[in-house]
Parts: sequence; structure tokens; C-alpha cells
Amino acid sequence: MVVPRVQAAIASAFGEEYRGTDPVVRPSQFADIQINAAMALAKKVGLPPRDAAARIVEALDLDGVCTEAEISGPGFINLTFDGTWIEELLNAETPGVQAVPPAEAQRVVVDYSSPNVAKEMHVGHLRTTVVGDSLVKVFEALGDTVIRQNHIGDWGTPFGMLIEHWLEIGEDSPEAALLVDDPSAFYQAARAKFDASATDEDGFATRARLRVVALQGGDQETFAVWQRLVAQSKRYFNAIYSMLGISLTDDHIAGESSYDAHLAQLCQELEDRGIARISDGALCTFPAGFTGRDGLPMPLIIRKSDGGYGYGTTDLATIRYRVRELEANRVLYVVGAPQNMHLRMVMATARDAGWLPDTVEAVHVQIGNVLGRTGRS
Ligand code: ARG
Repeated sequence: MVVPRVQAAIASAFGEEYRGTDPVVRPSQFADIQINAAMALAKKVGLPPRDAAARIVEALDLDGVCTEAEISGPGFINLTFDGTWIEELLNAETPGVQAVPPAEAQRVVVDYSSPNVAKEMHVGHLRTTVVGDSLVKVFEALGDTVIRQNHIGDWGTPFGMLIEHWLEIGEDSPEAALLVDDPSAFYQAARAKFDASATDEDGFATRARLRVVALQGGDQETFAVWQRLVAQSKRYFNAIYSMLGISLTDDHIAGESSYDAHLAQLCQELEDRGIARISDGALCTFPAGFTGRDGLPMPLIIRKSDGGYGYGTTDLATIRYRVRELEANRVLYVVGAPQNMHLRMVMATARDAGWLPDTVEAVHVQIGNVLGRTGRS
């Protein structure tokens, strides 16, 4: 829409032979986009760049698309879009997308959003949520069968502390409402109590540790409290999904806890088949091609020396489940870039184990860091 109009303006200002000119659209710091074509055109038409830019702007039809065109610097044209036009585009049934029937419909599993229970969704999660949901919609428009997987962090040691804190303050107390309204404040409060009682033998930290043991040992009452706690976090996630128009529902949740019952067997199988071995007390795989700075093979820890399982173990279980049970031809992990090494090691191990056959494509859709003004994340 914008490009043909800029090209029409160039043609009317400098002649038909320039209609095919690349308008050189770039993001702008001052407006929505920036057109940089005037600089290169200026030489060809023998004008100072700012004058060439002015001629383009004069001939440009902004109607219904832009509210403003401004010349800045050596000859940049800054364009500001008309909000109503953007809104119409967004509300259109299939904005600019036409379904192209795929050669063969795929079963695509997309792991995205995947926030953590009792924690705030940070900007990284928002990005994987938005990008993941867009991908899902594109695949669906292409005719693929898409299976959404929200791999929420709902298991592991912090849950002892979170449950114990929740029970102490009372499930219906105003402080407990933070779980939905400000999860990070809830988490911090539990953490602070835990840290303050670290050395106290009958204190909160000790009770929190016993609570994890009870939870993982299948204690009914603790399990029921945990379920209610997770339900509160789901309310928080869903409130955000609905604000953003995200298509995830509770039906798509397959959190870390859902793999727990399979982890012991998974580790045993890898050990029996010689794919994993004990190193410094921990069960590890050493997939080919991953070496540390010291040149030694890098481990993917799948069972810690204390017998606990970690992020690598659950992620191996995700791949196995998605290929075997969900019958995926393609598995996408829409996850932040810092987890690339982890996911590549998991995928390599899954290939070695035969859980990820060559016919199935596994991709880490990397989302880069969101940086603040200081350039830090
Ligand atoms: N919960 C994780 C985090 O917040 C993201 C999980 C991504 N998915 C996965 N299968 N590893 O970093």
C-alpha cells in the first residue's frame, strides 16, 4: 500500500522510468517508517537530496494511509501512519493473507509463551507469546494441523516454598491475591521468608524443603494445594492472553509437571542404551559436537547427583511426547535465544535416542533479547 504510492510519487516527480525505484523503507526513530530513496535518486536527477525528497513528498498521496510526511536529515522522508488505517488492517478477516495450500499438510507442534507459575510474565515471555501465536495462525492459514503447547514452569524446588508461603498467609488473604495481580511480589515475599530462615532448623526454609519432598512424593493434600496454586497463575496468564488477543487456552497447557511421571524411565532408558553415563555423580549425555572452552565434551545433565531431574530432562520428554504421541512432523520451540545451546543439546540427544527421526524437523525459533535504553536486557 505504501510502497506503490511512494513509487507513484517518484514517477510523477521524476518520470515514469523511475517508477521501479526501491523506496528503501526503513524503521524510523521519529515516525513509523522512513523512506530513504531520495539520496540515491538525487544523484540521478541532479538535485540536492533534500530537494529530491521534497519533490517526492509533494507528489505523495497520503490519503487514508499516513497522517504526516516530514523531511529530516540529509533527505529522509518520515511517514506517520494513520491509526484508523492500521486498525482496519488488523480487524480485516485475513489481513493480507491468502491461504496457499501446502504440498502436504503438516502436523506442527508449537511450544510458545511458556511462562512460569507464580512469576511475572516478563517481556521475553510476551515476545514468545506474540510471535508464537502469529506463527500458529500462519500455519493454520496454510492448512496445517497445529498443536499448541504451553510448557509452563509448574514443577520443581521453588514450589515447596511457594506452597508453604501460600498456606501460611491463607489462601484467601489479600496477600494471596497477589498471585493473580502481581505474581512477582508474591514470589519475592516467599523468597524473602525462605532466605531469612535459611539457617533456622524448624523454620520456614526447612518446612519448604519438606513440602517439596511431599509434593514430589505424591502427598495428596500437598498436591491439591499445588493444583489450586497453579490454577491461580492460570488466571493471571489468561488475563494477559485475553488483553493481547492470544489464542492459548488452558487446553494447551502441558507444563513441566505433566512429564514428571516419565522422567525416571526416560533416564533409565538412556543409561541402559549407553546414550547417557554417570559423570561426577550426575547422569549426563554428551551429544557430539558440543565442547566446552576446555575442549572437553559438554554434558547435558539429565539426572542430578541428588537424584533430581532438571530442565534438560523435561525437555527431552517434550520432544519424545510430541513426536510419539502428538505425531508431529515439525516441532517448533519459540523460546528466547539464550536457551539455544540447551535446546540444541536436547535435540541432538533426542536424535541419538531415535526419538527425533530425520523425517521430523525440530526448530528453535529464537527470540532475541529485549534491550533497554542502556543496551542491556
Ligand atoms: N519456562 C521457560 C522459561 O521461562 C520457557 C520454556 C520454553 N519451552 C521449553 N520447552 N523449554 O524460560
